[in-house]
Order: sequence, then structure tokens, then C-alpha cells
Amino acid sequence: MEKGNIASDFARKAFASAKNYEDVRSEYPEEAVKYFLDKLGVKDDNSRVSSTEARPFTILEVGCGTGKFTRVMAKVLTDKNVRVIASEPLESMYEQFKVFVPGTDIVQCAAESIPLPDASVDVVVAAQSFHWFTNRAALEEIHRVLVPNGTFGVLWKVLDSTTPWAKHVCNHLDVLDRENSLVFPHHEEWKEVVGSLVKSLFSFPQEYIGFEHSLEISSYDQAYQHFASYSVVAGNSEIKKKAFKEFFNELMQMYFIEKSIPCTNIPFTLYMYWFHKEV
Ligand SMILES: C[S@@+](CC[C@H](N)C(=O)[O-])C[C@H]1O[C@@H](n2cnc3c(N)ncnc32)[C@H](O)[C@@H]1O
Repeated sequence: MEKGNIASDFARKAFASAKNYEDVRSEYPEEAVKYFLDKLGVKDDNSRVSSTEARPFTILEVGCGTGKFTRVMAKVLTDKNVRVIASEPLESMYEQFKVFVPGTDIVQCAAESIPLPDASVDVVVAAQSFHWFTNRAALEEIHRVLVPNGTFGVLWKVLDSTTPWAKHVCNHLDVLDRENSLVFPHHEEWKEVVGSLVKSLFSFPQEYIGFEHSLEISSYDQAYQHFASYSVVAGNSEIKKKAFKEFFNELMQMYFIEKSIPCTNIPFTLYMYWFHKEV
């Protein structure tokens, strides 16, 4: 097992092909990432430095995967005196990250066991990954590495439920999420679960939902490959994978093929939350 690595077998199975993840998953809109970093207190100036040592404002990303969020963050942060440290528990993702984001430091670890000193980072971010470590051990660890008043920010691209066919897929995936104990922000129980987990560590999160955007697609198969990479499909049994494929084919038939209209994009909305460290 990789060092500092307590990622689940389910995650290993779900992300067995980091290259496929990189190819079929969507990107983050730059404007949204700018907005998010602003909410997390990442400033244009160099005013926030540690009181004990001169170090740049430091952002730790947990669950960085192949670096989809890291790359946009790096672009947005150009010219700022900010250091980004990425982290990722899975060997496959960690290796792909080094290929795609060669200039950024990365450590191989899970959120529950971060090999950084106490109070050594100003901001922790988790893009499309907090559902993997929605637990007290990870929150305590994130709290430990953050400076007093540091901020923890999480965001997800969630299927846009105002589009009927996307809502239909979302409802189907929600059942699989719950079967696999994954909690996402659009689930009814999210606020209650997270609210009780962060008690005495972080403030109740502030929220922003918006930045509608989409992944352009040119075939039904491309849409299928995208959804088939979701952990609750990719990491599931062969029977569940087959059932998802059948569901998806019927859905495409009903919403597009029977009506002779093409499916040209997968619509998303961004869900963002940020928590302040309570000392
Ligand atoms: C859906 S991917 C998101 C990757 C990337 N942040 C992005 O936006 O594309 C979720 C990532 O969380 C990682 N992960 C799983 N369990 C984790 C844990 N316990 N701690 C930190 N990351 C974890 C997975 O290995 C995977 O790379």
C-alpha cells in the first residue's frame, strides 16, 4: 500500500484508470475557480504570510486526482505569491498528476493522514473529492494543518437538475451514492451530516450554487463513457455496471433518439462551500 494511504478499496477500483478519468471528465470554468478562491480568502496581494516564518500563502489541495482543478487554480493564481501543494492517495492518480502538472509539488497521502506540520497551510481545497473523506478523522487532520482562521473549501460539479434528462440520471446515481455511503451536497442529508461532523472544528459552511456550464459531447457513447467513469458505476459490480448501461441506453432512447434530437452536452452546476477554522 502507498505511504500515508488509507484510501478505500472502493476508491482504488473506481479510479483504476487515471488516464480514462482525465479523458472523460469535464473541466472547471476559470471564472468559477476565481470566485471560489476569492471566497477562500486567496488575495491578490502578499499580505498573508506566516507570523513565524516568511513563507508564501500556502494552499493544500486534497484528492487532486489528475490535476483538473489544480491546473485551473494555477492559471488563476499566476503572478500571485501563492504556493500550491497537491495531495492524492492513489498511486495511479498521483503518477498521472506528475505528468499533467509537472511544476506543482505533490505528496502522496489521504486526507486522514497529511504529512505536513501543524498550522502550516492557509487554505485547504477539495475539488470533487470531499465525498471520499466526509469523516471526522479527515476533518481533524485538515483542521490541524490549517493556520488559525484558515479556510477549508469544497466544490463539486453536480448534474444540472433543471435539465430533465440530467435530473433523471442524477436521481439514478443518487440511489447508487446512498448504497455506497457517499454523501454529496445536493443530497437532502448533506447539511445535517456535514454540520454535525464539523462541530467544534469549523464554522457551519457558507454556500454558493451557480456557474452553470457544460461538457460538449458528440455522441451517446461519449456521454455514456463520462457517466461510466463515476465512482458509483466504475467501482461497482459487473451486474450494477450492466444495469447502468441499460438504464442509460433507455434514457437516451426516450429523451433523444425517439425524438430525433441529438444529445450535445452534459449540463452541470457548481456547488461550493467554505468553512472557517474555529481555534
Ligand atoms: C472525483 S476525483 C477528483 C479529482 C480532482 N480533484 C478533480 O477535480 O478532477 C476524487 C479524488 O479523491 C481521491 N480520494 C479518494 N479517497 C480519498 C481520501 N481518503 N483522501 C483524499 N483523497 C481521496 C481519489 O483518489 C480521487 O483522485
